[in-house]
Amino acid sequence: MGYQAHFRVWRGADDGELQDYTVEVNEGEVVLDIVHRLQATQAPDMAVRWNCKAGKCGSCSAEINGRPRLLCMTRMSTFTEAETITITPLRTFPLVKDLVTDVSYNYTKAREVPAFTPPADLEPGEYRMQQVDVQRSQEFRKCIECFLCQDTCHVIRDHEENKEAFSGPRFLMRVAELEMHPLDEARDRPEQARGDHGLGMCNITKCCSEVCPENIHITDNALIPLKERVADHRYDPILRFFRKKQE
Ligand code: SF4
Ligand code: F3S
Ligand code: FES
Repeated sequence: MGYQAHFRVWRGADDGELQDYTVEVNEGEVVLDIVHRLQATQAPDMAVRWNCKAGKCGSCSAEINGRPRLLCMTRMSTFTEAETITITPLRTFPLVKDLVTDVSYNYTKAREVPAFTPPADLEPGEYRMQQVDVQRSQEFRKCIECFLCQDTCHVIRDHEENKEAFSGPRFLMRVAELEMHPLDEARDRPEQARGDHGLGMCNITKCCSEVCPENIHITDNALIPLKERVADHRYDPILRFFRKKQE
């Protein structure tokens, strides 16, 4: 049985406001269905980014009742019929309009991670990896680049000034993935994580892992092991000796 639900949706740019809507909800629907119904019936100019409606493209990220979520994977049955549901754009990135933000910060940070560097003399087909190494990479490769972890991380959420020095959990995880890859020969990934990507600013609050729709253990499996590797790298007495000689 359908019912009428109350929504508050952010409309406009930075000087916009929350607007109230009453919309029909049917069994089995997700929040993105409601946004589409709003576009079809009451707000044809409402801007929203989406693509797959299957939790795989990472486009429909927004905040629902203040929590970073995918619009297409949030079932209406999560809420009571009497509840007012508030949908706002991702807070950490500049607002374009309505529910659409400019996420280019993330692409800038992605470009700053040096690419996978296998041994130069290794031919395609000659790659050999242990199953345990494959599985470790596979967890990180589930990332759909929804940037919900980036949105929730307090280091940049209300601190625009930290964005230059901090790459955020998604890209620190990418550095960790490459650092743990047995065939990657790029030098000094731990040092890059510390210096170029601001790993030290992460104080392991784990909020990133809590909002990840792919349930990736970002903090436990990527960020903490990367911090351990940074510590090993910096305080290894032999490496310190050579570093000191270079300084
Ligand atoms: Fe989204 Fe998870 Fe990837 Fe972060 S790690 S961008 S939350 S899928
Ligand atoms: Fe931010 Fe995740 Fe670290 S939320 S502080 S990157 S554990
Ligand atoms: Fe693709 Fe939601 S529309 S993840």
